[in-house]
Amino acid sequence: MKLSPLQSRLAASLLGSVILLFIYFSLFSPQFALADDRLKQTLPILLDDLDITLALEGRSSLDPEYEPEFAPFDRSIIGRAPAGVTGLANNVPMPMNVAAGTTQLFVFEKGTIFEREQETLELRGEDGGSHAGMPRAGPERSTAAEPAEEHHIAKRQSSKMIYISANTCEQPQPNPDKTTMDPPQLTMFVSTSPKNQSPGPSADPNTQVVVEFVEGAVMYNTTTSDDVFLGIHAPNVSSTFTGQTYNFQVAASSDEYFHSYNAQADADLIWVDSDSQGALLITHNLTDSTDESTTDQIMRTQPYVMFAQNTQEEWSIKGLKYSYCGLQNNAQIAATKNGKFTSMVTTGMTRRGPGNLPKQQFYFSGLNASASYLGILALNGDAGKSGPGVAGGGGHVYRATNFTTKSDHGNCQIVLNLTFCDQVAYSVPSNPNTFANSTLLATFYDTQAQSAYSDFEKALAQISCEAPSTQLYSLVRTCTDCAAAYKSWLCSVLVPRCEDFGTDGSWLQPRNLAQAFPNGDVLDAAALAQFPNTSATMTSRNPMIDSVVRPGPYKEVLPCEDLCYNLTQSCPSALSFNCPRPGMVGFETSYGRRGKQDENGEVYCNYPGAAHVFSGAGRIGGMVSWVLGGVAFVGALVELL
Ligand SMILES: *[C@@H]1O[C@H](CO)[C@@H](O)[C@H](O)[C@H]1NC(C)=O
Ligand SMILES: *[C@@H]1O[C@H](CO)[C@@H](O)[C@H](O)[C@H]1NC(C)=O
Ligand SMILES: *[C@@H]1O[C@H](CO)[C@@H](O)[C@H](O)[C@H]1NC(C)=O
Ligand SMILES: *[C@@H]1O[C@H](CO)[C@@H](O)[C@H](O)[C@H]1NC(C)=O
Ligand SMILES: *[C@@H]1O[C@H](CO)[C@@H](O)[C@H](O)[C@H]1NC(C)=O
Ligand SMILES: *[C@@H]1O[C@H](CO)[C@@H](O)[C@H](O)[C@H]1NC(C)=O
Ligand SMILES: *[C@@H]1O[C@H](CO)[C@@H](O)[C@H](O)[C@H]1NC(C)=O
Ligand SMILES: *[C@@H]1O[C@H](CO)[C@@H](O)[C@H](O)[C@H]1NC(C)=O
Ligand SMILES: *[C@@H]1O[C@H](CO)[C@@H](O)[C@H](O)[C@H]1NC(C)=O
Repeated sequence: MKLSPLQSRLAASLLGSVILLFIYFSLFSPQFALADDRLKQTLPILLDDLDITLALEGRSSLDPEYEPEFAPFDRSIIGRAPAGVTGLANNVPMPMNVAAGTTQLFVFEKGTIFEREQETLELRGEDGGSHAGMPRAGPERSTAAEPAEEHHIAKRQSSKMIYISANTCEQPQPNPDKTTMDPPQLTMFVSTSPKNQSPGPSADPNTQVVVEFVEGAVMYNTTTSDDVFLGIHAPNVSSTFTGQTYNFQVAASSDEYFHSYNAQADADLIWVDSDSQGALLITHNLTDSTDESTTDQIMRTQPYVMFAQNTQEEWSIKGLKYSYCGLQNNAQIAATKNGKFTSMVTTGMTRRGPGNLPKQQFYFSGLNASASYLGILALNGDAGKSGPGVAGGGGHVYRATNFTTKSDHGNCQIVLNLTFCDQVAYSVPSNPNTFANSTLLATFYDTQAQSAYSDFEKALAQISCEAPSTQLYSLVRTCTDCAAAYKSWLCSVLVPRCEDFGTDGSWLQPRNLAQAFPNGDVLDAAALAQFPNTSATMTSRNPMIDSVVRPGPYKEVLPCEDLCYNLTQSCPSALSFNCPRPGMVGFETSYGRRGKQDENGEVYCNYPGAAHVFSGAGRIGGMVSWVLGGVAFVGALVELL
């Protein structure tokens, strides 16, 4: 019944196969000698000790092709499964094809489950099915119908939670011209009754639980002391789909789900910003701990992988969005080992953003302009370990995040990795004709900010920061605070956050309207007439942008007003920083305001770490006056409007 995989992939797999074969042989041969169910006791320990993750990943556990080499060993160990029923070993995924309208059968035997607990006394009575993942409920199996003899055996065994999970790796593909429907999902039937060893659509519904796959994945747990029988059933598939066969992998575990997904409302991947060819996405803080050694250790890891898909071509992952192997095989871009178009993605760790806690970031390039994408974050196994034998080794998939790219005017470009303005990682006004790549552009902005900051440092040095505490300007805020607040403010003002000129939003400030776009287009008189003819709209806040970068018309996401207020509160009054208040002239064209969190995830104003999730609504602007002892200070650089 074991069919060859749907796709004959990976010509490069021969070496991997040999390594894998060797590893399995060396791992499993001791069990041949023990000849029974000790597998679980020994296998995870060996796997933990040996760093075989890499070798296994070479031929990913998700690769259906690895089954033929693996299966003979597996069958010899598990051995006792009836013909046509495949035995499952703890935490080892079993890849399999299933043709439309048929059912594949599996068993997870109690010997595998209970070898560690033979002596433990029983806790009979708490068994009974339950299911995860939002599928519809099937009839609970009837415990009353079990023979008394079985109760006797069970007396010597405690019940145990068994985690069953499966992922659809390949499925019939919808023909986009004929149907917009997702391919029908597989169904899993679970029985813990010896009377139903072939769960499936035609078996007695009172002895089995029905769990439908959701987006190509299923998670089900049951507490039992019996063998667990599984049927994975493929529905009939209409001819509007290409192909009649599914490929899936199923795993049972007494530790945790081997494959898992999290469909909760909060997306775990945050879209920071995009430009016309790229996008920057970031995870949540990977820890809340501020302990240096903990965060340093996390900074050395890269736990997550990512998949991305143009929503116009979403059909290829429709119905597979919670399946790790489904995404690995079918997503347009897979930022994983052996994934597709990995060169389009750069990933790394960063401490940028509020709290300076570790996060993983993904920087995409080579995307289409004005396109929308789905980004799906995933964990390849647990704690960096993945593959067969590792609890949770099948991967964890999170809910998708939407993001879009900007238009092909191409005058907003993401910059990151700035040395001085290290919190900057967003789109800035750009022009490919003046700055050929993002590194050069980043250096331009960063150098300017750095030099303005040096001027400020000189001014700050004239204030006796190192004086005894009685003479300090404030007991609460120090010169260090002032310098930090100044830096945050300076970087957000000198490195403006750029939006497409065509983007509508009352909080966006049009800039530099009189200049030509990088491709030579200019706004006609009618378009210009819609905007006031003021320096706020006709020029950039930072004149060097207009004269050196020459981006043409763009819109600015204004810096948040609190960056300015923080500056006035943190710095000595001798520096005479002043923030404008709402209603003052120039207010609206200079600052934005955070507000209530908005479902649309708009960035209403820019602050270090701002992303499409956290900012608030509403906006007003402002102005800071730059006076130090009556002398205009750094005026040429930071002429505010
Ligand atoms: C087992 O499944 C039930 C029902 O879906 C769920 O509420 C529970 O959290 C699951 N238990 C574990 C340990 O995952
Ligand atoms: C699936 O197709 C088979 C053969 O064409 C048919 O016998 C069966 O009734 C169909 N099942 C369903 C649920 O339509
Ligand atoms: C990270 O933690 C900081 C401090 O607790 C918090 O302000 C910030 O919003 C968190 N960032 C993310 C992306 O969750
Ligand atoms: C870009 O668009 C083309 C044509 O629509 C499409 O074939 C290609 O897959 C798209 N690429 C990406 C990365 O979205
Ligand atoms: C993301 O885009 C999809 C369409 O591709 C849409 O169905 C879904 O509601 C969007 N999600 C959010 C959170 O906007
Ligand atoms: C940013 O720096 C990190 C580490 O220094 C590097 O891996 C990454 O490629 C850089 N990203 C860009 C876009 O330059
Ligand atoms: C950017 O352009 C400069 C000058 O042409 C070149 O030296 C540098 O390697 C380029 N950087 C990247 C990341 O392409
Ligand atoms: C004000 O600036 C200080 C120093 O940069 C920073 O620690 C603090 O979080 C800032 N406060 C606000 C509200 O931004
Ligand atoms: C804006 O006003 C200036 C001087 O008042 C004038 O020279 C310029 O042509 C005007 N621009 C537009 C687009 O009307």
